[in-house]
Amino acid sequence: MGSLIEARGLTKNFSGLAAVSSVTLSCDRGMIHAVIGPNGAGKSTLINLLSGELRPTDGQILVDGVNVKGYGPTKMSLLGVGRSYQRTNIYPNLSVLENCNIAVQSRLEISMRFFGAVTSYPDVEARSKQVMQRLQLDSLAHKKANELSHGEQRQVEIALALATEPKVLLLDEPLAGMGAEESLRMVELLRNIRSDFAMILVEHDMDAVFALADHLTVMVNGEVIESGKPEVVRLSRRVQEAYLGGDIDE
Ligand SMILES: Nc1ncnc2c1ncn2[C@@H]1O[C@H](COP(=O)(O)OP(=O)(O)OP(=O)(O)O)[C@@H](O)[C@H]1O
Ligand SMILES: [Mg+2]
Repeated sequence: MGSLIEARGLTKNFSGLAAVSSVTLSCDRGMIHAVIGPNGAGKSTLINLLSGELRPTDGQILVDGVNVKGYGPTKMSLLGVGRSYQRTNIYPNLSVLENCNIAVQSRLEISMRFFGAVTSYPDVEARSKQVMQRLQLDSLAHKKANELSHGEQRQVEIALALATEPKVLLLDEPLAGMGAEESLRMVELLRNIRSDFAMILVEHDMDAVFALADHLTVMVNGEVIESGKPEVVRLSRRVQEAYLGGDIDE
């Protein structure tokens, strides 16, 4: 079975700065591939390349074997690449269900534009409810987004990503700003849905990374300095020096 998403020699230069430099990685369904590294390593830039929000300077991206050269975010989403953001993209004055409906609706409008599919409003709401059930967020449906705790907001962001019916899920720091309990809940949530997706997970929380990841890629200054099984990467001297530092002896 081929990878659901694959990057080969992916490179992004910003006026002379190599934010992402010849990165090669892949992820299969049911797998979580974590990308870690210090601030400014190029992790978000990598996610933005994989989601189609940025055009690579060089290299290739394949989604389910299809070379997606020149695809923007809309076409990537249609191909099944969904994402969450490092900063929130929730409408604060709308309910969770309404936020989810907007995400489902936007997906349907794009499908209609491309494939002429027609879907009614009840179908939108049914799909939203299905997604919330999948994530066990039903009880939040009628809460306004600005009344949610930070942890709940981040869970809803996963729901918004799932509303686009992805097969690949790109997650940029889903645990950012969370307390210990909220982090555990998010790890549990990701564990519960992992079998359905190929997940690329950018995260600074090493407990979560080592609890979830099947494969680890470590980036520093745009470059991959190590890639492999988490327990092997963890012991790499280069990785310890560049990033994990004191964590390693815990
Ligand atoms: N649109 C842009 N234009 C110019 N430079 C950029 C742009 N986006 C990112 N950069 C630069 O590229 C480098 C990588 O940034 P990126 O946001 O990908 O890092 P990161 O690994 O996600 O960091 P963090 O852990 O802080 O989120 C940084 O030096 C950043 O300043
Ligand atoms: Mg980032």
